[in-house]
Amino acid sequence: MAKAKTAFVCNECGSDYAKWQGQCSDCGTWNTLVEFKLGPASGAKRSKTQTANASYAGVRSEAKRLSEIDLEKTPRFTSGTSEFDRVLGGGLVPGSAILVGGHPGAGKSTLLLQTMCHLAKDREVLYVTGEESPQQIAMRAHRLELPVDRLRLMAETNIDALLATAEEIKPAVMVVDSIQVMHADDITSAPGSVSQVRECAARLTRYAKLSNTVLFLVGHVTKDGSLAGPKVLEHMIDCSILLEGDADKRFRTLRGQKNRFGAVNELGVFAMTDKGLREVKNPSAIFLDRGHEAAPGSIVMAVWEGTRPLLVEIQALVDDSSLSNPRRVAVGLEQNRLAMLLAVLHRHAGLQLGDQDVFANVVGGVKVLETSADLSLLAAIVSSFKDRILPRDWVVFGEVGLAGEIRPVPSGQERLAEAAKHGFKHAIVPKGNMPKQPINGLKVVGVSKLSEAMDALQ
Ligand code: TYD
Ligand code: MG
Repeated sequence: MAKAKTAFVCNECGSDYAKWQGQCSDCGTWNTLVEFKLGPASGAKRSKTQTANASYAGVRSEAKRLSEIDLEKTPRFTSGTSEFDRVLGGGLVPGSAILVGGHPGAGKSTLLLQTMCHLAKDREVLYVTGEESPQQIAMRAHRLELPVDRLRLMAETNIDALLATAEEIKPAVMVVDSIQVMHADDITSAPGSVSQVRECAARLTRYAKLSNTVLFLVGHVTKDGSLAGPKVLEHMIDCSILLEGDADKRFRTLRGQKNRFGAVNELGVFAMTDKGLREVKNPSAIFLDRGHEAAPGSIVMAVWEGTRPLLVEIQALVDDSSLSNPRRVAVGLEQNRLAMLLAVLHRHAGLQLGDQDVFANVVGGVKVLETSADLSLLAAIVSSFKDRILPRDWVVFGEVGLAGEIRPVPSGQERLAEAAKHGFKHAIVPKGNMPKQPINGLKVVGVSKLSEAMDALQ
């Protein structure tokens, strides 16, 4: 009997090696090589069937010229929810593989079940579950009052059985919940291991491409927020979206991380209700829900999320430190940026915070990774340090450079328009973002240096 073959695969980049080594020579990361057991002679067997049938869908792929590819045949179709469509870059593309990641309890199964029930109204949809029983899913669908009569449901964890059923039913959309519980018989390692996840995902995506099926793969996320399983999975799929939000919180955000068909970092906002996930069409309103009384250290800014502005509140707390090395903590903002801004504040505005702890936070669990938060963060820090309340109808944004200059940010007009829409009266923005025409009800102050900004914040 042929000996089982072993290969070593890098968790980060997916390179194969015959022997184990400490560092991957391709991507240079350490300790990422994992043993990948191939079943006895399975490689040879598989490649033979592949040459005979060419693929799982039974059709041979052919080389075509770009101009010969018929675009008409692959129009996008809507998922039924505008927030979901937005994150996907404008709807579902046939033949694409979409990875939906999230912590347990984030609502991945709920979101997909709701979407699939609606999609099934006018096309064939297959929902494969490896985690819950069909009864559990049916119960949930009835409770959420979803249209249940068309969706096809299958409880299966064997990848070949699943693909065989898919070839019979020929669904237009297929969900596999989750990729970590699927297994291929010809691979000896346990479900969820690198080799199983890699192989199952490869077979599923190949099937999706050849049969023009929209494939949703559910993936679990580890504590640090990365996808459990090999990084290589993220290279195979077309879109990767992450559903974030704690099980005990009401709001969930859906964020695109990789998208071959649209902008990344699009944000979709949903609320978890007793009737499942509901889309939130005006997210600024929820992140701005400032029920408490005005306090020092708080200011609203307009961030640009993918293709739309979003108003969020930034808070800072500056307090005497008892430590020799005062703390600088940034939640939802970049830590390094906070340290840099404090240095700029010292050098160009003469504000010494070396003996102070500085905490900064974006309210509502939003992550602000763009530089337009600089000026608002400075405003919040100064407000907290001086114990001076900034009026609640003020909005501030802009990038701060190391020389103390205030730089313009993209889409300034849209950000200001969003602020005006929500009743803000006063805006402090970079000079380069001054609107050409006055905006109704909004007084805009343009600043080009930190000293001007400090005056404007008085
Ligand atoms: P689920 O979709 O099972 O999460 P995942 O598949 O990502 O692990 O969602 C489970 C959570 O959603 C659970 O904490 C309960 C909550 N939930 C509601 O609050 N209301 C509902 O109508 C549903 C279906 C779930
Ligand atoms: Mg689930």
